[in-house]
Amino acid sequence: MENLVYLPVEKIHLNDLYDWSIPVQRCKSTKVALSPVGSPASSPRKSGVKVDLENGKGTGSLVKTNEHDIALFRYKTTVFAVKEECPHAGGPLHLGEIEDLGDELLCVRCPWHGWRISLHDGHVTLPKGHNFQSTVVYPVKITQEGQISIGFRGLDSKYFKVDEVEF
Ligand code: FES
Repeated sequence: MENLVYLPVEKIHLNDLYDWSIPVQRCKSTKVALSPVGSPASSPRKSGVKVDLENGKGTGSLVKTNEHDIALFRYKTTVFAVKEECPHAGGPLHLGEIEDLGDELLCVRCPWHGWRISLHDGHVTLPKGHNFQSTVVYPVKITQEGQISIGFRGLDSKYFKVDEVEF
């Protein structure tokens, strides 16, 4: 079994996340301006929880952990962590909507051009014929108190920088 380093997600707990299993919370659509293929992300990319229950809107949450931009989605008491950049052209996946393909096989729909990505293994499930493409999904652990940790194969190099020492 692979050895992973789990780092806690700062400032966001399980109960802060929008729960996509509750139908009443769902919005009809998340309107995000389309961005041409190849253009840099121009949509809002704020970190933190993106929930607006008053207006019936909810999305994922964008976090930065171990220098990785990661979209978090909650479904019941499970949290899915997927690389923020869409494998098609870099769209902001945390602004996507979750689709349940049945038996809780969950995917995120990219808000830019509608590619659908499995939250379980990162494979592209739509458009058809693109399932050879995939993105990174990260293992997640949640404590009883709702603290979320994300697993990585290693730590970013920033953790190993030492100040210059003069002799
Ligand atoms: S950037 Fe095109 S579908 Fe995500």
